[in-house]
Parts: sequence; structure tokens; C-alpha cells
Amino acid sequence: MALLEVRDLSISFPGGSGRGSALSKAVDGVSFDVEAGQVAGLVGESGSGKSVTSLAVMGLLPHTARVGGSASFDGRDLLAMPERELEGVRGRDVAMVFQDPMTSLNPVVTVGTQITEVLRRHTGASRRAARDEAGELLARVGIPAPVRRLREYPHQLSGGMRQRAMIAIALACSPKLLIADEPTTALDVTIQAQVLELMGELVRERGTAMLLITHDLGVVAGLCDTVTVMYSGRVVERAERHELFARPRHRYTSGLLASVPRLDAPRGQRLQPIPGTPRDVIGWDAGCAFAPRCSAADDACRGTELPLVQDPTASGRHLLRCAHPVPDQRADEPADEQERSA
Ligand SMILES: Nc1ncnc2c1ncn2[C@@H]1O[C@H](COP(=O)(O)OP(=O)(O)O)[C@@H](O)[C@H]1O
Ligand SMILES: [Mg+2]
Repeated sequence: MALLEVRDLSISFPGGSGRGSALSKAVDGVSFDVEAGQVAGLVGESGSGKSVTSLAVMGLLPHTARVGGSASFDGRDLLAMPERELEGVRGRDVAMVFQDPMTSLNPVVTVGTQITEVLRRHTGASRRAARDEAGELLARVGIPAPVRRLREYPHQLSGGMRQRAMIAIALACSPKLLIADEPTTALDVTIQAQVLELMGELVRERGTAMLLITHDLGVVAGLCDTVTVMYSGRVVERAERHELFARPRHRYTSGLLASVPRLDAPRGQRLQPIPGTPRDVIGWDAGCAFAPRCSAADDACRGTELPLVQDPTASGRHLLRCAHPVPDQRADEPADEQERSA
């Protein structure tokens, strides 16, 4: 049993866009696992439903949202849990880091107090012991002069330092699972890389599992054990990281990969953006939502619902929702040969 097992999660909001429906779907039948101690990436363009998925798991969606399915954490369904019980889980067993730490840090409380509060609540440590541990935590997340920083307010820290402080607060209660939603998106590229590396180190040394949510495949490249790719509220592909990067089968995934800068690409090779925009057509009742942007789309993609199934050409677990996958480049037979027989 995985630490977190999300099954058939669906999320709708009131106020559908016409067609007689009063609800608009944001997420439809999403399933994925986060194994204990592992890093699971959840990737997709803006609007694909990543944030609402994580908010649903944490019970933090607005009350107007309709949520279906289950999210079993340590064997207990978070979606069916009473709010009071859920409050106990949040910040103790599961912690979150968001894109903008200014929205989750309290602007009028010092960084030190914010960390010591969490420590004291969860460990019952004395004020002094919590203070010492807070200093150590700040040092561990790479904040220079941590003892001085403890007395400062969030606005006195740079963006990168604030995000490091946020990570320290999230880890203060030693959660089993850290959910990080675009944790580095607001940061400069070089700081981004440092913070990601730090997060990777911290979760691995503490054995904390992480659900890393990002629109940027480059972010998950160095960090994740598994990658789940979402498109328009659905999972379109899921595989172990090396497998996914070596052998993307869904054309959306391969498009995402082609738009990520690579160090091993020949000089002067251009990045290829995926044509179209994510939500110009919402294909809920018309098969694959990516079809309008896909070069391989035909009637098979638009007509019927495609299930998420094991890729028969993969040696390990590799789930795919696609009628015309990218040909397996590693196979012996020529690619066009495969495509015809697929
Ligand atoms: N509170 C809300 N009310 C109505 N629709 C929402 C709300 N929050 C998110 N959505 C919709 O849900 C969809 C998924 O959003 P989100 O999870 O934020 O995407 P992502 O994090 O992948 O960029 C979007 O179409 C968005 O407009
Ligand atoms: Mg988001």
C-alpha cells in the first residue's frame, strides 16, 4: 500500500460554461500514488488541475467544490475525514509548500516564532529547545546567520530565503508527506535550482515523501522517482522517471519534453513549443482533450473515451491514455513500421 493513494478523484465547481450544465469539471478520474519516502512528480500546463488536486487531498478546496473519489493516506481516506481530524493531519503528517511563501507566511510574526510555534505544537518542546531547533532548521535550509534571521519578519527576507524558511516550517513537524505546489516557480532560475536541490536532499535524508507539482518537466527531471502527467484535468501518462524521459509515449508528454531546454541537445537546436493553448477546446465528452493540439489525432481520439492502461511495449509499469502513442524509439524495428502495426 502506498502512503498516499489517490483514486478516481473528480472535482467540479459551480458555474459551468453553458450547455445546460451548472457544474464545470476541473479534474476527472485522476488516480496516482505517492510511495513512502519517494518523490512523485505531478506535471502539466497551467490549468490542468494540479493545484485543485492537491487542495482536495488537503481538504482545502472552497466549500462550493464538488469532490468525488478517494485519497487514502496511511490507510485513511482524507476526503471522507471530518474537518477536525483533517486539521490534525495537516501540518503534522502532511505539510505543504506553495509557490508564493508570502501568502502562507504570516507577515506580522517573526520567522522564528512561526517555526517555534509549529515545533512546540507538534513536539511539545520547551520554548528554548524549540528556538534552538528552529535555528538549526534555518541553518539546514541554507539561511545564513540563522539566529539573527529568527528575529526577522518575512518581508525582510529575499524571495529565495522566504521559500527556504517556508520549507523549514513545513519540515518542522517531520511530516510523512510534503506537498510542494510550484515551490520554485516564483524564484530566479539559479535560486530555483538551489532550492530544488535542497528540497531533494532534505526529503531524502529525512525519509519524507514528496508530491512535487510543477508545470515544468525540467523541475522533476533531477528529483522525482515517478512522474504523472496531467492534461486538462486527466492523467494522460504515468511512469517511473527514467522511463518517462527516455520513452515518452503520449504526444503531450513528448511535446513537453521537446520544450524543455536540454544540455545534451545539439547547439542551435530550437525548442519546440506545443502548438495551441491548453484550454482552447475542452474535450470532456469527446475523447482525448489533447486531440485539438495533436499531430496524430484522428477520429479514434475524438470519438470515444480512452482508458488509462499499461503500455504494452514497456518493460516496467507505464500507464498511458492514448490511441496513437509516439513510436518506441528504442525498439529494433523502424519507427514507421511500429506506427502502422500499433
Ligand atoms: N475556486 C475555483 N472555482 C472555480 N474554478 C476553479 C477554482 N479553482 C480552480 N478552478 C479551475 O480548475 C481548473 C484547474 O485549476 P488548477 O488546479 O489551479 O490548475 P493548475 O494548478 O494545474 O494550473 C482551472 O480551470 C481553474 O479555472
Ligand atoms: Mg497550480
